[in-house]
Amino acid sequence: MILVVGSTGSLGGMITRQLLAQGKSVRILVRPSSSYQALVDLGAQPVIGDLKDRPSLDAACQGISTVITTATATQRGGEDTIDSVDLHGNANLIEAARAAGVGQFIFTSGPSPDVNSPVPLVRAKSLTEEHLKSSGMGYTILWPNVFMGVWFGVVIGLALQNRQPVTLVGQGDKRHSFVADPDVAAFAVAAVDHPAAMNQSIPIGGPEPLSWLDVFRIAGDVLGMPLEIRRIPPTEPIPFVPVAAGMGMSGLMALMDTYETPMEMSGIAQTYGVRLTSAQEFLRGMLSGAAH
Ligand SMILES: NC(=O)c1ccc[n+]([C@@H]2O[C@H](COP(=O)([O-])OP(=O)(O)OC[C@H]3O[C@@H](n4cnc5c(N)ncnc54)[C@H](OP(=O)(O)O)[C@@H]3O)[C@@H](O)[C@H]2O)c1
Repeated sequence: MILVVGSTGSLGGMITRQLLAQGKSVRILVRPSSSYQALVDLGAQPVIGDLKDRPSLDAACQGISTVITTATATQRGGEDTIDSVDLHGNANLIEAARAAGVGQFIFTSGPSPDVNSPVPLVRAKSLTEEHLKSSGMGYTILWPNVFMGVWFGVVIGLALQNRQPVTLVGQGDKRHSFVADPDVAAFAVAAVDHPAAMNQSIPIGGPEPLSWLDVFRIAGDVLGMPLEIRRIPPTEPIPFVPVAAGMGMSGLMALMDTYETPMEMSGIAQTYGVRLTSAQEFLRGMLSGAAH
């Protein structure tokens, strides 16, 4: 039985659906406030719990062979913070899984771990990686690059929906290996019980590195008209999302303007049997209908 933590989120939902489609037995840790009935209808077994509540995690981990967690507080609020969820909540889950004898713990981290990072999320993810590696459990750490769905959705999709220019922070000429969110889910699913994934960190990127200017050009090609670009300073939020999230994305976009993350993915994709989605394919799907 596989336990998915974060199944009511975007990536966690994709992972849960892919596992269920493969006929796997899946338990999902859910909170009463989140909407999970659709996953139950597909065959997932819900168990009520919270990463801030250790006893609930002990119960959720009973009889589990693999834990997959994508949970994060970044899009939540109130008592769910980077500190309470991404740091201490993940620590609770690692300890509960270890105590229950879980064989493989798959943790969704980020692309550039650094325990000394000034970015709280990067620091929390990196400390969680360290904790997991020293736990004695079999582990797999996913290092996904920037998600196309999240970023193209906000920067391009929401701008077009609102008939506004797309937003750019900085020059937009640094190349990053944007990856399609369902492809990240496919790697997580393929890592379950995979010998190559045991006690490994897996870098996950798309098939080709692209700059934001490349992405805008491809989106313009897909739409048959060039996109209008509006540049903002990192002190202004990316529009059309809640201000806190918009400020966070603006800061990250400014950061992306200071380094590049090209990745050679063909060997890794072959090992895990994942066909990588190009930005053009992804944008075609995302923007179908937007031109008219
Ligand atoms: N976006 C990117 O470009 C990018 C790049 C690299 C890595 N990542 C990582 O990839 C993952 C993305 O996941 P996602 O898109 O599925 O996130 P998401 O849509 O924001 O979903 C967050 C999930 O975490 C759960 N959660 C939050 N607080 C919790 C708590 N206290 N107890 C239990 N569950 C809790 C939420 O449950 P509720 O519904 O109950 O709140 C939800 O299921 C994250 O770990 C992110 O850091 C993202």
